[in-house]
Amino acid sequence: MRFVTIGTSGITREFVAAAKNAGAEYVGAYSRDISRARAFAGDFGGSLGFDALGSHAACGDADTVYVASPNALHARQSRLMLEAGKHVICEKPAATDPAELRGLQELADKKGVIYVEAIMSLHSPGLAALKKAMGRVGEISFAHIDFSQLSSRYALLKNGEMTNIFSQEMQAGCLEDIGLYCVYLTLELFGKPDRIVSKSVFLPSAADGRGCALFEYADKEVVLTHSKTAQSFSPSQILGDRGAVTVGSVSQVKDVRFYDAATSECETVFGDMSKVGIMEYEAADFMRFEDDPVNTAGDYAHCREMSLLVCETLAEMRRQAPGFTF
Ligand SMILES: NC(=O)c1ccc[n+]([C@@H]2O[C@H](COP(=O)([O-])OP(=O)(O)OC[C@H]3O[C@@H](n4cnc5c(N)ncnc54)[C@H](OP(=O)(O)O)[C@@H]3O)[C@@H](O)[C@H]2O)c1
Repeated sequence: MRFVTIGTSGITREFVAAAKNAGAEYVGAYSRDISRARAFAGDFGGSLGFDALGSHAACGDADTVYVASPNALHARQSRLMLEAGKHVICEKPAATDPAELRGLQELADKKGVIYVEAIMSLHSPGLAALKKAMGRVGEISFAHIDFSQLSSRYALLKNGEMTNIFSQEMQAGCLEDIGLYCVYLTLELFGKPDRIVSKSVFLPSAADGRGCALFEYADKEVVLTHSKTAQSFSPSQILGDRGAVTVGSVSQVKDVRFYDAATSECETVFGDMSKVGIMEYEAADFMRFEDDPVNTAGDYAHCREMSLLVCETLAEMRRQAPGFTF
């Protein structure tokens, strides 16, 4: 994988570091500001900087583009890169409109390239450990999946400063930013629910700051909670009649523990790992999708199906919560 990037914030820095660790070659950066593009590329050994998306897409030295711009730009920029025949790894949410996402997936197929949403949880080795531990808890009747992380940008908002992450125009807010990870994990573990009841709470003149949802299944209920205005110190929990599994991070699927209901003994089945460490697994999978499409077709198809299912589910959750403008 020889890749270029869109976006010059912290997440792009983390992804470039992780992808390079996984063996990818970093070529260059796009920024709205050419000196920032060149400086960013230089920080990671890339030689090219662009301030025009057209030239970025036409860059013959790269076969892949990593998109980490504000949410509202993802679909448009991904389309431009796919049209140019590049593989695209796009930060979440890849799109907010399911029809648009489906169209982009079809375009990627037509062009014979890979198009994936960058979702760490699907590639974390902690996910397999979590699923194995769930096999030990017996009959699962209830789960609470939480991602509540106080945003440093919430204080800025309270001081009157709007940032992209709290902007509805940028299709951002709590649900699309971190609630999405709760939805991903729930659908990955339990599939599509029979019924969803969802609520979001909006910040003054801004996007949603927190929310909760009930996902009902024939044999269990899953409660999802997510917040950017308060910090949780409790793990997510999956409860059965023989034990429970807790998950410290639903986005990275790490700090996973099994509790035996009979003895109350706790066993760590997957411990801590750095975020860049988890992202290395993600980047390595994307490289395999590109380099070995035949043997990775099943895993790639699963990522795409999950992207679409999550996108459809988030659209339904937004529909149920008056206040969303997208
Ligand atoms: N996977 C994860 O753990 C993770 C973590 C954080 C964020 N993300 C995702 O990464 C994406 C970026 O998030 P972020 O918080 O880093 O966003 P951000 O800082 O608001 O913007 C990202 C980049 O986009 C460019 N940009 C900013 N405002 C723009 C505008 N109005 N028009 C065009 N370009 C603009 C900037 O680059 P230039 O000024 O150099 O052009 C900036 O570096 C989001 O989709 C988010 O969901 C993922």
